[in-house]
Amino acid sequence: MTGTGHVAGGRTDAGGPPSGRIVSGLMRIGDMPDDDVRALYDAARRAGVTTFDHADIYGFHLADGAMHVCEERFGAALNLSPAEREEIVIQTKTGIVPTESRYDSSYDHIVSSAEGSLRALRTDHVDVLLIHRPDALAEPDEIARAADHLIGSGKVRAIGVSNHTPAQIDLLAASLDHPIVVNQVQLSLGCAGLITQGMFANVAGAEQAVVRDGGGLLDHARLRGIRIQAWSPLQAAGGGLVVDAERFPGTGGLLAALAERHGVTPTAIAIAWLTRHPAGIEPVVGTTSPSRLHEAAAGAGVRLTNPEWYDLLRAAGHDIP
Ligand SMILES: NC(=O)c1ccc[n+]([C@@H]2O[C@H](COP(=O)([O-])OP(=O)(O)OC[C@H]3O[C@@H](n4cnc5c(N)ncnc54)[C@H](OP(=O)(O)O)[C@@H]3O)[C@@H](O)[C@H]2O)c1
Repeated sequence: MTGTGHVAGGRTDAGGPPSGRIVSGLMRIGDMPDDDVRALYDAARRAGVTTFDHADIYGFHLADGAMHVCEERFGAALNLSPAEREEIVIQTKTGIVPTESRYDSSYDHIVSSAEGSLRALRTDHVDVLLIHRPDALAEPDEIARAADHLIGSGKVRAIGVSNHTPAQIDLLAASLDHPIVVNQVQLSLGCAGLITQGMFANVAGAEQAVVRDGGGLLDHARLRGIRIQAWSPLQAAGGGLVVDAERFPGTGGLLAALAERHGVTPTAIAIAWLTRHPAGIEPVVGTTSPSRLHEAAAGAGVRLTNPEWYDLLRAAGHDIP
């Protein structure tokens, strides 16, 4: 089996479905009534969002072991017409299991989980199926066999990963006959190690120089044509939100000043900080509030200057070598 995608002009073009810059993350909709799910979805569409992010484990019920809870909420609340379904990209994830096994990367599990997602989402295909976390016991050829089956049968259109290092991606890609189109990773102004590590490479004694991402994760993705999605895009280091000006007055103050300058909200500026990076980062916004989603989506329309971008990095507590 072969590797990673078409190489063009020094970059690869892995293909996959089109995606707006902002993704609506639906991890927190498990208890929301139909009307609220519909209001969130409508706000997303009005804001130009076309990609909706799920996972089989989102909303997991400890009491009865129910999986696919958030997917089911989305599917039941929206009951999308075939025409509306074709206008959006639905991605979901598999591989994390709420048992002592922790992960299940077997052919049977991946196929049955994806089929469960289709039933819950009330759709005949998902646009991208992501392997949720690296499983140390995964057999890449077995994942590839499941991908072949799911793509061959039209149930899945493309394969992605989440929280994977460059080497893990290359290992899996070597078995797959289909390109890996996306890697979804934790990244925000507060949790920016994926960006700052490369800036500190080989700086003696610097904590920031420690490689935690397997090395060059963002650059590797750009070279391979793999889209990067940023989960928890507002999270501050150590918890909380970067937009919480009471808790983080330095970051909050600068976000507010830049918000005024650009005519948007501090949330939009925190999102703009991610979209300004040349890796083409797609923030996966997890709010359940239509107005906050609208605020965040406005960030994709703001282009921060280089000084603004670096000032924010410093205000969020990151050193610059
Ligand atoms: N691949 C992975 O391993 C992984 C892991 C975690 C998450 N994800 C994905 O990423 C998505 C986003 O993650 P996330 O929800 O942690 O990220 P987030 O968008 O950074 O945070 C959302 C949380 O912040 C709150 N919030 C947002 N703006 C706020 C404001 N201005 N003031 C007060 N609270 C505010 C939201 O509450 P309200 O709802 O009340 O606005 C919500 O609880 C998830 O839905 C999921 O799709 C992926």
